[in-house]
Amino acid sequence: MKVIDSIEAFRALRESWTREGKRVSFVPTMGYLHEGHLSLVDIAQNDADCVVVSIFVNPAQFNNPDDLDSYPREAERDLKLLEDRGVAAVFLPTPEMMYSEGHQTWVTVDDLTQRYEGSGRPGHFRGVTTVVTLLFNIIQPHSAVFGEKDFQQLRVVERMTADLKLPVDILRGPLFREESGLAMSSRNVRLDKVAKEKALLINQSLFEARRAFQDGERSSEKLTGILRENFRNLDNTTVDYISVVCEDTLEAVETAPDKGGRMLTTVEVHGVRLLDNLALE
Ligand code: PAF
Repeated sequence: MKVIDSIEAFRALRESWTREGKRVSFVPTMGYLHEGHLSLVDIAQNDADCVVVSIFVNPAQFNNPDDLDSYPREAERDLKLLEDRGVAAVFLPTPEMMYSEGHQTWVTVDDLTQRYEGSGRPGHFRGVTTVVTLLFNIIQPHSAVFGEKDFQQLRVVERMTADLKLPVDILRGPLFREESGLAMSSRNVRLDKVAKEKALLINQSLFEARRAFQDGERSSEKLTGILRENFRNLDNTTVDYISVVCEDTLEAVETAPDKGGRMLTTVEVHGVRLLDNLALE
């Protein structure tokens, strides 16, 4: 596995792959890898000859400096996991490399970024879409894999790629859960035992709502009310949002459609923002 920390060195490798006619798939990450990330690597492996993973904690997508500073990092462990998974190259840029002095070019997606994660974190999606575009320009992958865990991010990247006619196939990776049912996230390490028990109510509520949907319930108010009720009176927790949305437009709907609906939520538990979502089917 090649570990590359300069754009020039990556471009040289990429040119050699082009000469050899290799298909390249890409998994962008911010490191501190878990099985969820590795399941995205597996999808990339099935699609291409060479898999590239980037590890870059992107300052432009953090609107809270404390969140950026406290983001967990463990590069050596990450590299070992990726090597064991047969990754061809890991790209490790620095912020200075990605945002050269005087940087003033940004990529924005309008409507899809206004709600949910976008409304509580100004500038977040602008940072994501800009860094993904930069990475696509450097890596030049044929395909890239994004997890359904960050469902809004996935839709934003799909929209951007289609709108800008980028020659990259976006592949979806299903959300990966811990054995407990909690959606896997690098942030889970910040949950102590008590917080984790409360956090489990997120996935339990979503699955309870899905059972209600399967039994015929279509009212978004009733479906989202299940999670709200479970978190009512629970200290140190805030339901940031819980919505039934159309998967395509991410618009909230009053009545869940028979197909193509999804519940999206973010709950803050003991200061840790936890995202989860579940298709209503
Ligand atoms: O999902 C993430 O880890 C990040 O938002 C991404 C896509 C790597 C961009 O920094």
